[in-house]
Amino acid sequence: MEIGKEKIPTMTMKMEVKGNEQEGAEDVPPPIKRRLTMIIEVKDLVKKYDGHTALDGLNFNVEEGDIFGFLGPNGAGKTTTIRILTGIIRADSGQAMIGGHDVFRETMEVKKLINALPESNGYYEWMTACEYLWFFSKLYVVRTSRQEILMLLEGVGLNGRENHVIHSLSRGMKQRLGIARALINRPKLLFLDEPANGLDPGGRRDIHDLLTDLNRKHGTTIFLSTHLLDDVKRLCNKIAILNYGKIVRAGEVERLKGTVEDIFFMSTKEGAL
Ligand SMILES: Nc1ncnc2c1ncn2[C@@H]1O[C@H](COP(=O)(O)OP(=O)(O)OP(=O)(O)O)[C@@H](O)[C@H]1O
Ligand SMILES: [Mg+2]
Repeated sequence: MEIGKEKIPTMTMKMEVKGNEQEGAEDVPPPIKRRLTMIIEVKDLVKKYDGHTALDGLNFNVEEGDIFGFLGPNGAGKTTTIRILTGIIRADSGQAMIGGHDVFRETMEVKKLINALPESNGYYEWMTACEYLWFFSKLYVVRTSRQEILMLLEGVGLNGRENHVIHSLSRGMKQRLGIARALINRPKLLFLDEPANGLDPGGRRDIHDLLTDLNRKHGTTIFLSTHLLDDVKRLCNKIAILNYGKIVRAGEVERLKGTVEDIFFMSTKEGAL
């Protein structure tokens, strides 16, 4: 497969420049303020599977630039929420907006803003790592040079593996490739459903560094579903804890009274609802 030489346009952060209204203050540079906008708005979302309620009137918001930790015990509804927000399945009722677009009605607009690493990611095992990313760059209609693909692979710690067939990669390596794939369209909002699955401690640290870098340098908002509370403490500025399809706690990590572990166990123990 031949890899092209075109460039991906670099992503720019939204900035709001306010005019200087004071008379005679021409020399003072106008203040530049980052616009605090909600990139995800979820209102009263309900999803039932054959009568079983997976999401029970879910409400939460995520601000642009957040690394948002989405926690909850097995079966709480995390994957269901991500699948709805990424347009894989539809909710029964309620509203979900991404970047001001309705995820059910303005799917194409939403797809331009997002990408995701799902809970179980499928791979085309016969492709090389490089071919796999090239293939997805074509699907997303983004211009990507070989150099950029190599940089993406390096960013997830797969340098030297670019010409390896996916079949020969370990589980953790495939997970890293999945993250590289999810970055191919330079998403403003990245959904990760348990991305540290199958990663060794070094791999987890690499992914932390990569996500922190993406967030700081490019302003990428990260929606992270995980069971690893250590990762949450290290990475996330905000969390929401889900139980039986409802948010039971939410807030800024720094302002939480108590440890993430205590809050998680207190708010998800039987009878806490
Ligand atoms: N396709 C499906 N058909 C029927 N029930 C489903 C389906 N997908 C999920 N469910 C049910 O919906 C509820 C929420 O599941 P979901 O996968 O969203 O939970 P989760 O929080 O991601 O759990 P985990 O931590 O185990 O990944 C569970 O009770 C699950 O059994
Ligand atoms: Mg899940």
